Amino acid sequence: MKLPRRFFQPLATGAPAPFRELPIKLERMIHFVPPHNEKVRSRVPELAATVDVVLGNLEDAVPIDQKEAARKGFVAMAQATDFASTGTGLWTRINALNSPWILDDLFEIVSQVGDKLDVVMVPKVEGPWDIHYIDQLLAQLEARHGVSKPILVHAILETAEGVANVDAIASASPRMHGMSLGPADLAASRGMKTTRVGGGHPDYRVIADPTSDGAARASAQQDLWHYTIAKMVDACMANGLKAFYGPFGDFSDGEACEAQFRNAFLMGCAGAWTLHPNQVAIAKRVFAPDPAEVAFAVRIVEAMPDGTGAVMLDGKMQDDATWKQAKVIVDLARLVAEKDPDLAKTYGLA
Ligand code: GLV
Ligand code: MG
Repeated sequence: MKLPRRFFQPLATGAPAPFRELPIKLERMIHFVPPHNEKVRSRVPELAATVDVVLGNLEDAVPIDQKEAARKGFVAMAQATDFASTGTGLWTRINALNSPWILDDLFEIVSQVGDKLDVVMVPKVEGPWDIHYIDQLLAQLEARHGVSKPILVHAILETAEGVANVDAIASASPRMHGMSLGPADLAASRGMKTTRVGGGHPDYRVIADPTSDGAARASAQQDLWHYTIAKMVDACMANGLKAFYGPFGDFSDGEACEAQFRNAFLMGCAGAWTLHPNQVAIAKRVFAPDPAEVAFAVRIVEAMPDGTGAVMLDGKMQDDATWKQAKVIVDLARLVAEKDPDLAKTYGLA
């Protein structure tokens, strides 16, 4: 174990000091783009104004013969787009640690656009050792190329071993930004019997006991991902990180996507991946608090200005704990309001 007093020291001479607290940013959706596709890339400057995070994907879904083109395309799109003026995050998903591309992914990207890059998403993280490797390498590259702001690391939780080590991954480095559920790889790694990318399964259900009259037994579909999301949220929040739902692969079923995103939001997630333009509007709807909930939360905060004691509002007991619950909602509403003038008015925060 690293000594606590060394935890925040830069890992290379000349690398920037790690953040003590994560920068506060609205990240309702991490929008994936294929950087080897020139047509998609040319639309990134326009796209950047409409999403919270643009992620250039270099890993799965990029064919082997396009890996280099994707990396070069990412550098080109980073250079051609002004992400800072809209506060939009720039992320990349690099290839996995056991692949032949990861070194060039990091070397080329940090050397050419390291100062514009906010977060590196690392797939198939198995344990803290994977984070330590990336952490050291990024520090060396930051130092070598004079990068002034630390590049953060986001792990995809998508192997059984990664889930078993989730707490150690979350606390592995001050460079950690958060984690995303990767339901497709995770399903394969665990031997789950589904070909779906995220979402539920009609056969995963609970059924009521039989009755003596032989009536049809009530049954309800359950959420396959509940356990993993809860585990990921606890590991992240215990370490001051952010948790995200990953991909929802059925682009034709917006209703199911919205239900899955909403469960993740209610459970504590900050956002989700959007792989299709249709999913951006869904994420905007879901990852912002409900206006009625915001109005009630504002009343709680106003009724208990110093956050202590107990009051009754509409017959409901409020105390220090509900004040903290209200703060979570009000703080998020303010963050959303800064970016979305219509919601700011709806929330009464304009
Ligand atoms: C994402 O990478 C997944 O495997 O679901
Ligand atoms: Mg995956």
